[in-house]
Amino acid sequence: MRSIIITGGAGFIGSHVVRLFVNKYPDYKIINLDKLTYAGNLANLKDIEDKPNYKFVKMDICDFEGVYQLLQDEQVDGIIHLAAESHVDRSIKDPFTFARTNVMGTLTLLQAAKLYWESQPTPYVITRKVDTAQPTLNSELSALNQECRFYHISTDEVYGALKFDGTLFTEQTKYQPHSPYSASKASSDHFVRAFHDTYGMPTIVTNCSNNYGPYQFPEKLIPLFINNIRHRKPLPVYGKGENVRDWLYVEDHARAIDLIFHQGKIAETYNIGGFNEWKNIDIIKVIIHTVDRLLGRPEGADMDLITYVTDRQGHDLRYAIDSTKLKTELGWEPSLQFEEGIEKTVRWYLDHQDWMDNVTSGDYQKYYENMYSNR
Ligand code: NAD
Ligand code: TYD
Repeated sequence: MRSIIITGGAGFIGSHVVRLFVNKYPDYKIINLDKLTYAGNLANLKDIEDKPNYKFVKMDICDFEGVYQLLQDEQVDGIIHLAAESHVDRSIKDPFTFARTNVMGTLTLLQAAKLYWESQPTPYVITRKVDTAQPTLNSELSALNQECRFYHISTDEVYGALKFDGTLFTEQTKYQPHSPYSASKASSDHFVRAFHDTYGMPTIVTNCSNNYGPYQFPEKLIPLFINNIRHRKPLPVYGKGENVRDWLYVEDHARAIDLIFHQGKIAETYNIGGFNEWKNIDIIKVIIHTVDRLLGRPEGADMDLITYVTDRQGHDLRYAIDSTKLKTELGWEPSLQFEEGIEKTVRWYLDHQDWMDNVTSGDYQKYYENMYSNR
């Protein structure tokens, strides 16, 4: 039986990963470790919360003692790490929270896992891929420790920004983060790789493009705009709306995580993307048409909600991922066409107004009003 901690399991992507693992692997124990910040919501997991192989633990990833104790108590042999502060606009306003959670939190998890796995009868250490001056560590693995994995979920934003020249981010692209969010994720990626190179920690890192789908907090473009259109509120388009993002349906990301967790090679990096680039203004028009149609309004009637606002500071021009390695080595491809994915997504938000009302009440409303009163 495997015992796996998924951090950030109450958030957007994490909840899809938890759901997939709990349903697909009844023999695994899945522990959702989440602090429940504004972005964490246990309502995202209502359908699986009573399953016998699922457990929720409210904890901060920066709590070293708590994490170490949990690893011991649950005899954890796998960590899938998604917990993070994830919104670029928030990172521009408050970079320290991003450094704390994304950098110190990741380091705390790494160190706790290292100490716990090293304390096991046969330490996890493996022959390191990187040839350093130090002698190779013990390559004899116990059955348990062969399967230990520290899998860190990262973003394509660490690679910086592309021009409109058709180039793509590959696993070899140099890191060049621009926002406090991407800088903090880049730093955490470096720590994860350093733990492999220094201590032989069995790590994997993946860098994924923009996700969309159900349960995404409505500060991100797609859910925010669906909700605003429904309520006929302005749609704040940053700059000229010409920035490009590569959109992937969240369940396809969760499937990739499952595959890589089980079959990915230790110390490797895999890029995950949708081969699905959209200019913001074009995707916004698709969303307006879809919401209007599903609400029975004349299609395009809400185009007048588009409101160009001051650009995001340091706004990255274009992201686009080359996920050929993942396809060639592990056979993963996005399964949903964008048209199908966006239709499912819009429908889900329109059908779950209670979820939306719940997450947009209180503090979020104040934050949102403050954010846009400055633009
Ligand atoms: P999210 O903001 O929806 O969820 C983050 C979760 O982490 C929340 O449940 C929150 O409560 C939890 N969390 C935050 N700080 C914590 C702490 N200190 N201790 C424990 N839990 C804490 O994020 P998301 O969009 O689901 O992203 C998940 C991961 O995937 C992040 O690491 C992000 O960088 C990465 N990622 C996201 C995207 C995307 O498009 N959303 C794309 C690529 C990579
Ligand atoms: P977002 O969903 O915040 O993801 P990221 O910044 O991580 O790519 O934003 C997606 C794109 O949409 C990005 O180019 C910024 C833009 N955007 C707007 O134009 N208006 C908005 O209100 C938001 C939230 C984003």
